[in-house]
Amino acid sequence: MAHPVGKRGDDAPIIQVRGLKNAFGVSIVHDGLDLDVRRGEILGVVGGSGTGKSVLMRSIIGLQTPVEGEITVFGEPTIGREETEAVEIRKRWGVLFQGGALFSTLTVAENVEVPLREFYKDLPPALMAQIASYKVVMTGLPADAGPKYPAELSGGMKKRAGLARALALDPELLFLDEPTAGLDPIGAAAFDSLTQSLQKTLGLTVFLITHDLDTLYAICDRVAVLADKKVIAVGTIDELLALDHPWIQEYFKGPRGRAAIATQEAQERAEAHPTEVKEQQLQDSGAAATETPAQQARTD
Ligand SMILES: Nc1ncnc2c1ncn2[C@@H]1O[C@H](COP(=O)(O)OP(=O)(O)OP(=O)(O)O)[C@@H](O)[C@H]1O
Ligand SMILES: [Mg+2]
Repeated sequence: MAHPVGKRGDDAPIIQVRGLKNAFGVSIVHDGLDLDVRRGEILGVVGGSGTGKSVLMRSIIGLQTPVEGEITVFGEPTIGREETEAVEIRKRWGVLFQGGALFSTLTVAENVEVPLREFYKDLPPALMAQIASYKVVMTGLPADAGPKYPAELSGGMKKRAGLARALALDPELLFLDEPTAGLDPIGAAAFDSLTQSLQKTLGLTVFLITHDLDTLYAICDRVAVLADKKVIAVGTIDELLALDHPWIQEYFKGPRGRAAIATQEAQERAEAHPTEVKEQQLQDSGAAATETPAQQARTD
């Protein structure tokens, strides 16, 4: 499934949102929201619960029609498109919804085949099965996970199955809504590594909604902060820390933020001086097996 070569330069944003307004009745969720997502980046999207992160994602992928505003993805407007045109754009992204949302009556392999059936109806069943089993293995699931039903999987395996489905169409752009929520710290870190390695090997752009500070520190190139019905800031974590917005300061410098920084610094030390850290761990014996404060804080 080759991707059409766009006429636009490589530095044009993959997603561009301008003047977005969303409302449910009298309740306004977004008002004048602007955002650019750059090609090849992992953009973390953070904000308090109910600030409209999922609604923003749903607007970008065309599941929520905004009251006002413009959205382009791959340079193509996504609002008000004819269905045939919209399908061509939708084929180029994959989505992992908040909560995973696997079909419980379908096996993992059948779940992964859903987008293939939707967009490539004429693919021979054997080829669909082959693609599905490839995607299952690609997300680190054991090959025998394919015939299992979601109820037979752990939380982490369900997330991976959801990711396999999101990757079914070889997307250029991946939307992940709270992918590590509900995972234990080790499972969450493993999922982050998987996201990062897939992003690198497949050249993906990733729109990643999360409140997991470890994820932000470990894999996000930039972070967008939603507050006051807008994206109030976008940048690296260091750039955000330099701003004196109360929510940003509280979020990154509160106890969980400090714990995430400690974890990140420990990882950087381990990468820079692997033997020293190993020796220290041996000296500390037992202590090395315990979780870092950030890992303890990571449960949702
Ligand atoms: N279909 C809907 N109908 C009415 N209100 C909705 C609908 N979807 C979302 N909302 C409201 O829009 C607001 C933003 O919701 P959204 O799900 O985007 O929040 P969120 O930032 O993703 O929160 P969380 O971190 O808890 O997932 C909330 O007040 C929510 O109640
Ligand atoms: Mg949400």
